[in-house]
Amino acid sequence: MLSRNVTVTGLQWGDEGKGKVVDALAGACRYVARYCGGANAGHPVRLAGETFALHLIPCGILHKNVVNVVANGVAFDPEVACEEIEQLRARGVRVGPENLRISSAAHVVMPYHKLQDSLSEQGLGSGKIGTTARGIGPCYADKANRSTAIRVGELIDSAALREKVRSLVDIKNRLFQALYGTEPLDGKEIADSCAEYGRRLAPMITDTGTILRKAVAAGEPVLFEGGQGAMLDVDHGTYPFVTSSSVSACGVPAGAGVAPSAVGRVVGVIKAYTSRVGAGPFPTEQDNEIGDRIRERGHEYGTTTGRPRRCGWLDLMAVRYTAEFSGVDELALSLLDVLSGLEEVKICTGYLIDGEPVDGFDPSLLGRVACEYETLAGWSKDIGACRKFEDLPAEAQAYVERIEQLVGRPVGVIGVGADREQTIIHHTNLRDFS
Ligand code: GDP
Ligand code: IMO
Ligand code: MG
Repeated sequence: MLSRNVTVTGLQWGDEGKGKVVDALAGACRYVARYCGGANAGHPVRLAGETFALHLIPCGILHKNVVNVVANGVAFDPEVACEEIEQLRARGVRVGPENLRISSAAHVVMPYHKLQDSLSEQGLGSGKIGTTARGIGPCYADKANRSTAIRVGELIDSAALREKVRSLVDIKNRLFQALYGTEPLDGKEIADSCAEYGRRLAPMITDTGTILRKAVAAGEPVLFEGGQGAMLDVDHGTYPFVTSSSVSACGVPAGAGVAPSAVGRVVGVIKAYTSRVGAGPFPTEQDNEIGDRIRERGHEYGTTTGRPRRCGWLDLMAVRYTAEFSGVDELALSLLDVLSGLEEVKICTGYLIDGEPVDGFDPSLLGRVACEYETLAGWSKDIGACRKFEDLPAEAQAYVERIEQLVGRPVGVIGVGADREQTIIHHTNLRDFS
């Protein structure tokens, strides 16, 4: 068992390889809890040659003896959840109230949220955010608005739910007709499907805050699984090109209903380069053959939407900033193998505006900065079979060590391939990586 809690959180623009890291640690945990985002996340885990791409269900579901929690901070889409549960069961994974608990205080992503997400993006044209169209922004907007929100616990009371859904669909229909001229949605149909999802999910819906606080008090190890990455954080990311929740380790207490001290050791996941899906500033982007090469070698296509990801060099200015405000204790460096075969590799170590170095880190300036790079020698060897740091080519070792120096945090583990065993245990303080 883990000796303490762990938070696994992304430090870039999402897709850092969090799924694999969570999977590696989950076996030593009693609970794995998602605290932010929703079905915008796509966390693939490779297991015995098979890939499980998890969106809403925590990655601990693939481990026996782990209780998985979808906590209150999640934007919960019952349709996706039911589909994902069925798909997992069809592949022989046990999913039931004994290993999946869903917070009654999480907010429901409704069909009209998904429609609104798409309509709003279409309306923005070239200024669009490039969302995943999973209804995340509109769901959290209704959460903040309160009177137009539905929480998961309400799915269970079907009489009250039907009435509320019909009245909310009526409000949304009037809004969408006025703004976008769309045909009205069928309130009865939506109310019926919500009631049906509520019936199916009811045994798993509960007060997860109490469960997690009891676990923490009893010293049972909890892993908090982050979605997205800190540069997409609604407060601290490249606003407005961000997602709509607090995705860093700072989001754990509010998103899971635990004290800040329960966050535990924070593992910040970074990939050995940078990728981003959707619009927004990306200083180290390589919209050229380097970026294309990384995309192909790294299979950088969205897990949730299939969109090609924008790729570029490792931006350590961004990582240093996100590691700092997320309270990162150690880094997990993934996809190092993708850089094999490049003659040289670059790390962004500074930003300039009008030729002057930028002091500090202000995400709102990222669209204006030019990057200062440090260039390191590349390596040609395929490193997928390396299992010890010493097995890595000297140039790859130097790359890892430079990251440690520049971020001022140890690289705990290094990913050299998608399979569970393609991991090098390096300077981790956690003895539980499997
Ligand atoms: P997440 O959202 O943070 O889990 O990241 P993604 O959605 O991008 O998924 C990461 C992808 O990279 C998945 O397909 C993983 O199986 C794969 N992956 C994870 N770590 C490594 C690694 O070290 N090397 C390689 N080649 N693939 C990896
Ligand atoms: P995981 O957990 C990468 C991005 C979208 C878009 C922005 C807003 O797999 O790392 P949203 O649908 O949230 O309103 O979209 O955020 N985004 C992600 N990018 N990985 C994710 O999740 C993401 N979740 C959202 O591409 O730019
Ligand atoms: Mg992903």
